[in-house]
Amino acid sequence: MTQFSLKRLAVNPTETIYLNHPKLDAFLSLNKTKEFLANAAADIFSNDNPEYYTPGMELEVLSQGVVRLLINAPATGFKLIFNEKNSTSQGSDVYALEVTKDYVAFLSKNESGPANILATTKSIPALLEPGVDCYYWFSVDKKNKLLKYGKGDATQSLTLLTYSVKENFLKNLKYVGSSLDWSTITKRKIYELPVTIQLPPFVIGNEDITLEDIEAGVITSVGNLPKECQMLHSVVAGPKIILTDEIIVGIRGSLKNGKLKEILDKKGEQHADPKESYLRITLGMDMGYSPGVPFVLELWPGNGHYSPIHTHSDAYAIIKVLHNAIDCFFYPDLRKQDIKPYLKATFKKDQVTYLTPTLYRTHKLYNPTDDFTATLQCYRYASEDKVHYETFDFLNDKLEVDTFVPNTDLTYTQLKDVLKKEGYLTTPLKSKSEAA
Ligand SMILES: [Fe+2]
Repeated sequence: MTQFSLKRLAVNPTETIYLNHPKLDAFLSLNKTKEFLANAAADIFSNDNPEYYTPGMELEVLSQGVVRLLINAPATGFKLIFNEKNSTSQGSDVYALEVTKDYVAFLSKNESGPANILATTKSIPALLEPGVDCYYWFSVDKKNKLLKYGKGDATQSLTLLTYSVKENFLKNLKYVGSSLDWSTITKRKIYELPVTIQLPPFVIGNEDITLEDIEAGVITSVGNLPKECQMLHSVVAGPKIILTDEIIVGIRGSLKNGKLKEILDKKGEQHADPKESYLRITLGMDMGYSPGVPFVLELWPGNGHYSPIHTHSDAYAIIKVLHNAIDCFFYPDLRKQDIKPYLKATFKKDQVTYLTPTLYRTHKLYNPTDDFTATLQCYRYASEDKVHYETFDFLNDKLEVDTFVPNTDLTYTQLKDVLKKEGYLTTPLKSKSEAA
């Protein structure tokens, strides 16, 4: 069988769809056998609503969770299906999401058409972005009988379509089907918890939680952070994690006309805007469980110094403000299409914030005050993360995604030596091991 006859085989009745079908691409490029081609063609023509299933794309709890995936430069729309079976639903009841360049819809069956539409929107931010890489997510929530859809991080603030199921909710959905061949979707993830309320970025200490907070249900206590964040929090939460007045005065002075200013000016020269610069003072060693040294004291000079928009990939982090305050802007994803923040928060001295691989991971820090700000950043990979992506990604001056290998301007010991030399430190500062 020649390639010419294969193309003819695929031309009837809806030429465009079948010519773009991944299975057709596969057999054209791989020059498979006649039997393989006949089977594949029969499969294609027998199904107007292709559903592909693959191991691993299953909900851990029936009818509860989120599927989030990166669709690379789609030419046409796609569907995602929550199904009881891991085979084509063929007209049976499911919850499906259809994303096209003209509309987005939740469907009660894997068939387009008014009879099966549960909810729909033509809002531009919700639509398919043809030719552009984008994360899309679909949440099913049996306890609250809700379907939700969004782009970027799977979180309430980025929800673009919601449907409250009035009738009996389908309670046995387990498998995630896709109209796209799963081999074309390189980044995909299932989360056990559906998208519900937005946990705020402020971590509240146990001593500050009230009954009213619990009733409102919108607190982030240490206990409801992921275990990786809890581990980091336990190290930095103590009342003695502080900068002394002497060190604060010293940093302020050195940033004005000392060694710290010298280092900062050099870093500023590397950017179109010199204010896109701050100092990284590392504490301890790289232990191998974080991108770079896990504990970093970051110094943000006043009057508008800032970081680029960057993402922490699959790391967890805790950030504690040790001096002054910092503005934090949060973004749906690291893309030039997402440079408008969806949330801004100001964190003051002693306040703690966090980020996870699924929430608040793309951000920009900015110091609008006239004094410097000091923050302590702590990072950790997920325990089950064996890949350890060693860089932070950021948007450069051209709004292209670039990579940054976490580096050190000074260690904390070197910082104290600088401040001593410049005459700011008189009190000996010793660690417990030095003092012993
Ligand atoms: Fe960051």
